[in-house]
Amino acid sequence: MTKITVVGAGFVGATTVQRIAEKELGDVVMTDIIEGMPQGKALDLMESAPIVGFDVNVVGTNDYKDMQDSDVVVITAGIARKPGMSRDDLVKTNLNIVGKVSENIKEYAPDSIVIVVTNPLDIMTHVALKKTGFHPGRVIGMSGVLDSVRFATFVAMELGCSARDVDAMVLGGHGDLMVPLPRHTTVSGIPITELMDEAAIDRLVQRTINGGAEIVELLKTGSAFYAPSAAITLMVESIVRDLKRILPAAAYMYGQYGHEDIYLGVPVKLGRMGVEAVIELDLTEPEQEMLAQSAEALKEAISTLDL
Ligand code: APR
Repeated sequence: MTKITVVGAGFVGATTVQRIAEKELGDVVMTDIIEGMPQGKALDLMESAPIVGFDVNVVGTNDYKDMQDSDVVVITAGIARKPGMSRDDLVKTNLNIVGKVSENIKEYAPDSIVIVVTNPLDIMTHVALKKTGFHPGRVIGMSGVLDSVRFATFVAMELGCSARDVDAMVLGGHGDLMVPLPRHTTVSGIPITELMDEAAIDRLVQRTINGGAEIVELLKTGSAFYAPSAAITLMVESIVRDLKRILPAAAYMYGQYGHEDIYLGVPVKLGRMGVEAVIELDLTEPEQEMLAQSAEALKEAISTLDL
């Protein structure tokens, strides 16, 4: 049986565990530092199984050892963004948390594929890479799927069409540095550049870039979790079922798109081995420049950390 560990049993972690269990992607271990909380959530979830009808086991724990031999580990541990707080304000606190979690993954789940969700995403994924010492293809950041589905949702709302027919593509960093690609965003194969004017596209692009903050402003006490957990589950599914889906995700660049030693959101092929290929798109000059700005800002942020 496939074993999936979700570290951090807060809003994102617990909702992810629920989605993974309901899809029967594997047995799930949910771990958190708060005593009793992951155990309680796991038991509550198991008690829904007779109605919902899933046959996987869900266990809650405060002991990292229980992630032993996991195939996939999802890191959602950390503090969430509060209103007015930028993702970068989170760096120091979450750096220590993700560092510690990564050391435990190295010890207990040395063959796992790691999906990092904790913000600031691109930096935390870099931290997890350095602290696990894993091959870069096995440490991936969840950003692009979420940013793309947000863009797709706004396109569908604008056109009054089914969101299922929209395929959006967003590259770059997670947050202000993302690079939405309208010409690679399609509705049943039709680029949105043929379906709406530039002003409308710009408005949707801006809303996508601000997507996480828009939810934070509304919730006031936390950040998004329904769409993030759906995005994580899609990535977990592609890995454990070896679907080899082409999805945007934060992947380690070693020369692709002209960048090195940096995590950037790009389309990847996701399978049992993790990132099995990075798809290199032909970018226009402005797109290349935006991506370079993204990389530059991340390099600078990472250079200040002691990794
Ligand atoms: N090990 C395990 N769990 C931890 C640790 C740790 N070292 N440190 C903190 N946690 C737990 C907290 O106890 C909390 O239950 O991580 C959980 C985080 O949950 P929430 O505060 O509900 O945050 P959530 O909304 O789930 O977001 C988690 O995902 O999208 C990102 O920006 C978001 O970085 C944030 C992360």
